[in-house]
Amino acid sequence: MQRKTIIEPFKIKMTEPLAIKTRSERERILREAHYNLFLLKAEDVTFDFLTDSGTTAMSANQWAAMMVADESYAGSRSFHKFKNVVTRIMGFDHVIPTHQGRASERLLFGIVIKPGMKVPSNNHFDTTRANIETLGAQAVDLVISEGKIPDREHPFKGNIDLERLESFCREFKDRIPLGMLTITNNTGGGQPVSLENITQAAEIYHRYGIPFILDACRFAENAFFIQSREAGQEGRPIPEIVRDIFDHADGCMMSAKKDGLVNIGGFIALKNSTWVQDLRNQLILTEGFPTYGGLAARDLEALAVGLEEVLNEDYLRYRIATSTYMAKRLNEMGIPTVKPAGGHAVYLDAAKFLPQIPKEHFPGQALACEMYLQDGIRSCEIGSVMFKEAAQMELVRMAFPRRVYTQSHFDYILEGFEELKARAHTLKGYRIAEAPPFLRHFTAKFAPL
Ligand code: F0G
Repeated sequence: MQRKTIIEPFKIKMTEPLAIKTRSERERILREAHYNLFLLKAEDVTFDFLTDSGTTAMSANQWAAMMVADESYAGSRSFHKFKNVVTRIMGFDHVIPTHQGRASERLLFGIVIKPGMKVPSNNHFDTTRANIETLGAQAVDLVISEGKIPDREHPFKGNIDLERLESFCREFKDRIPLGMLTITNNTGGGQPVSLENITQAAEIYHRYGIPFILDACRFAENAFFIQSREAGQEGRPIPEIVRDIFDHADGCMMSAKKDGLVNIGGFIALKNSTWVQDLRNQLILTEGFPTYGGLAARDLEALAVGLEEVLNEDYLRYRIATSTYMAKRLNEMGIPTVKPAGGHAVYLDAAKFLPQIPKEHFPGQALACEMYLQDGIRSCEIGSVMFKEAAQMELVRMAFPRRVYTQSHFDYILEGFEELKARAHTLKGYRIAEAPPFLRHFTAKFAPL
């Protein structure tokens, strides 16, 4: 019989203490951090949901592999092991290690993008957009319209709008150095892209002679969604679906800090060699020799093992169950979230949850602060604090580190949300006391109203 409880498919042999503090201690700590969760000391946080990036717990096999790494400057055995794993899983022959996702972006865009060009995607992640725009080009988001409505259910809310993509490519084909898709679509709430949509997008890009590059940081989570939601894909082995995804692309950029199951690392992988020599030359200039990128060989070893482990279906089932379970229980309590839950995160809809707090008083910030006071949760406001007047929604992201927290942690947090819900109508907003001119969410100081 199918059980209700999905267990962590691992046992734990190394632990770290959780900060257990009282509410009054947290009140003092938050006041001293000027009500900005980025300014907290991590040791004052009980549940750190700031990001799923680089926060993975590594396995015994990853730690073991690190011990046998070959730290040679050039031609390291660890590089070849890593490279062979990427080639086997994704099918790309040319693999260029980097220290993280945005380094891959800067390198690849640096050699192909010229001012005035345009790069389409479903949604570009912030660093991707910034790395395109800093070169004088435009990052264009073409996600389907359902992807922009928080409570609209759709199995593949990360899909790109194929009609708009087609006409965009037709109009600007000479100014598009590459076309992208982000899997899963982080900006849209960790939403997956269907295999059908990937296939069609590839077909459009290729028809106009545009190379197709995936932003692949959560590729395994995306493959699991394909297996569980897409007609005709049920029961197919995850490695097969993954291979199908990458077979449509000309290459990918990867922040391995997500589905690489490591704390640092990234790479660019490409089908053909056109850009490879330029990339390697640039790599040597800024990251390091082509057989280590900006990494130690032990990082490459951990990554080689992580890329295999992330394809494990028991792991992926447990992984996706976490965010699905959290969102479902929150919704049952009447706490609104972006629907359906994403792979790596749950996004709370603070504007809807705290209707008494107007946009100018930062409902997302108010909710994020209250979640810290309630149970020591660190989350991230994605709304008017982060995007100023451009904010379309007032969201709070809880991104879940991989293999770090357990079911009992989540149940404990959900009990806390019940208490928070009862007080929600009494919560008040914040004002900004001090802020830098850009990227203000990292360092701004707030004051409660
Ligand atoms: N692309 C996507 C879709 C991402 O989510 C990220 C990072 C990057 C690229 C950049 O990778 O951090 O290794 O340089 N996302 C993190 C997050 C920071 O919290 O969502 P990076």
